[in-house]
Amino acid sequence: MSSLQKIIIDTDPGQDDAVAILLALASPAEIDLLGIVTIAGNVGLARNTLNALKVLELSGRTGVPVHAGCARPLLRPLVTAEHVHGQTGLDGPDLPAPQSEATPGHGVDFIIDRVRAEPEGSVTLCALGPLTNLAMALVKAPDIAPRIGRIVLMGGAYFEVGNITPAAEFNIYVDPEAADIVFRSGVPLTVLPLDVTHQMLATPERIAAFRNMGNRSGAAIADMLGYSERFDLAKYGWPGAPLHDPCVIAWLLAPEIFSGRHCNVAIETTSELTRGMTVTDYWHVTDRPANAMFIRSGDADAFYALLAERIATLP
Ligand code: BDR
Ligand code: CA
Repeated sequence: MSSLQKIIIDTDPGQDDAVAILLALASPAEIDLLGIVTIAGNVGLARNTLNALKVLELSGRTGVPVHAGCARPLLRPLVTAEHVHGQTGLDGPDLPAPQSEATPGHGVDFIIDRVRAEPEGSVTLCALGPLTNLAMALVKAPDIAPRIGRIVLMGGAYFEVGNITPAAEFNIYVDPEAADIVFRSGVPLTVLPLDVTHQMLATPERIAAFRNMGNRSGAAIADMLGYSERFDLAKYGWPGAPLHDPCVIAWLLAPEIFSGRHCNVAIETTSELTRGMTVTDYWHVTDRPANAMFIRSGDADAFYALLAERIATLP
């Protein structure tokens, strides 16, 4: 996609969310970031909102509004991931306390208002955390569904199955009812699941490339990815930690480096054992209609080359 795309990023930053936000900000020829909406997920809503403001200040782009969204999932108690992201949710880099504040107005209303205000089909919603805000927006304002151009989300897994439980990926597990609403919404979906993000390993060489860029954004990313390794290398035993959320923005910028299949993805909401499982009809063995472009693989070298090229342009 070459023309300028208007996007809203819904996020719980998160080291990998932060890299995704920076990639979007570093791509002004292709991406017009209308705003950031925060969601409870990796840590609580207040910290995630603070982290979003810190990331914007790191990039020097404080004009982008940050709206706080929902503080908990639709039905369930919030599950967080301090064991992965640290107590602040963004452990690793030493980022200063933000000078700016969140913009007044609830994040769900920001999504609704912007989708209604922009031309039909022109806004892409990028979801990097639990899908609570998107589900709330679709329930509160059903008229926006046909106006949303596409939802591109990091979440779920089929071949890789789960990372927070044996059956489920974290973002879908935290709020499966919200995910169910989004996957049944009829809005065109692109799903970047663990199947592809587990191919995007932040090896020592790739982390060093960020550190050697000579800008503060590159150094901060090196610190973030270095932090993420602590937990993930021990968990997986791979040569680098997977980098999840930037796949969403990379797919917008360079879809040709990814491949997948248009198929049906349904969310398990009733079983406690497999809560939040993304049941993906990858082999088309049912008559369930396709509702998502489910990405299975990507070119990791091309992904990191894109990241390096863009992040080098930031302060
Ligand atoms: C997802 O969970 C979060 O911890 C990450 O930021 C990513 O969005 C990966 O399962
Ligand atoms: Ca995230």
